[in-house]
Amino acid sequence: MTPQYKPETTDSTSVKNEPAQSAKLWAGRFSKETNAAVNAYNSSIAFDARMYKQDIRGSSAHARMLAAQGIISLEDAKLIVDGLNSILQDIENGKLSFDPLAEDIHMFIEAELTARIGDAGKRLHTGRSRNDQVALDLRMYLLDTVSIIRSGMVELYSVLLDICRENLETIMPGYTHLQRAQPITMAHHLMAYVEMLARDIDRLDDCSRRMNTMPLGSGALAGTTYDLDRHAVAADLGFSGITMNSLDGVSDRDYAIELTSMLAIFMMHLSRLSEEIILWSSQEFAFVDLDDAYSTGSSIMPQKKNPDIAELTRGKTGRVYGSLITLLTVMKGIPLAYNKDMQEDKEAIFDAVDTVLMCLPAFTGMLSTMKIKKDRCRQAAAGGFTNATDLADYLVKKGLPFRSAHEVSGRMVRYCVEKSCSLDDLSLEEMLTFSGLIEQDIFEAISLDTCVRQRRIVGAPAPETVAAAIEAAAARFAI
Ligand code: ARG
Repeated sequence: MTPQYKPETTDSTSVKNEPAQSAKLWAGRFSKETNAAVNAYNSSIAFDARMYKQDIRGSSAHARMLAAQGIISLEDAKLIVDGLNSILQDIENGKLSFDPLAEDIHMFIEAELTARIGDAGKRLHTGRSRNDQVALDLRMYLLDTVSIIRSGMVELYSVLLDICRENLETIMPGYTHLQRAQPITMAHHLMAYVEMLARDIDRLDDCSRRMNTMPLGSGALAGTTYDLDRHAVAADLGFSGITMNSLDGVSDRDYAIELTSMLAIFMMHLSRLSEEIILWSSQEFAFVDLDDAYSTGSSIMPQKKNPDIAELTRGKTGRVYGSLITLLTVMKGIPLAYNKDMQEDKEAIFDAVDTVLMCLPAFTGMLSTMKIKKDRCRQAAAGGFTNATDLADYLVKKGLPFRSAHEVSGRMVRYCVEKSCSLDDLSLEEMLTFSGLIEQDIFEAISLDTCVRQRRIVGAPAPETVAAAIEAAAARFAI
């Protein structure tokens, strides 16, 4: 039978304005005070206090629903919601600080509420457990955070597109094995990161979709006998659906693991770009100049300008991987449903989102202020025989099978290495000693500009192909 709201009876044990955190809300069953070391060990308020807004929002929605269902009175619901709002205000304006002795943010707010409004506060937890409450708060906190991360990622995406638009014709060497391979453009190179980032944003959206289910009503593990309206709470809080099994509802952390895993992949992408920027800003490459505002100096070597933002991004990628492994390991051995191990989820997921949130503006700023030294890029592409494939392709067009053309081009490269010159420096006469098929049009055919311009196939570096790719990429996220 569903318990219905009954007119309030006075609870003789309740004392208004009792000190909020003096007693444990579960103290009834216990005959001793908790050992001080256990208290500190058990407490999570030091790291879960950051979910206070979500806890208050969730509790207010729960209270409104309890009243609408006739489980508590409308007056009590109003006292609860107003009380919660006053707590929110006092936290935000610094009048109320978190009690480090409180067990967690949920207990802290509930105890504070009861201290402020008396018995009505004690009715808030009707039909709810901290297990579904923490599951709700974490989902809400992460959904709020995901939307900030998403805008940061879209901002980075659009900065990359701008750099690509500026560098459609900036020829540089493309590398394999970090050896110069074939000429491409800076726009084409950076569009590779745009593709990675598009997948990252897609993965973020995909994981938010699953995160967006409301677990309240799962109770401790077995649902509840109260006639809660779970859909109403979901709608009130802006969730798109509800969780479908009470055990899973309280013990699922897939959404946190999916988010961390998506963030780990994202950081891996930034780390790869960081590595390139570190190389490119070295004097050996000198393809880019980092802005002074996004570089740091040395305490001893006056000449140094270091790419610290890129290095930190590369380093912090490891932290995010660490969080992912922590979460997977915490979850792998715990039986259904809630176990206290799961409290260990928070520092890991919070550190992952904090790291990404710190990284995004610094990284995006570093890119948007970075100068690309177009001449240096082109100069590097001119060395290293990056047009040797095009020379082979030229011979193929003149009728030679590709394998033979590869051989001829290779011999010409060896000759040039001995002469310390590039393929373009050879005279037609010299070239003719390698193949009678070569004609005057060879010079045009193997020029860097031709090599790039002729690669017009979808996904290739020809400026008009990349320009089309940029506009398609911009349309994906309506930039
Ligand atoms: N602080 C706890 C956590 O983060 C809240 C849930 C506590 N539930 C319990 N049954 N002790 O997981």
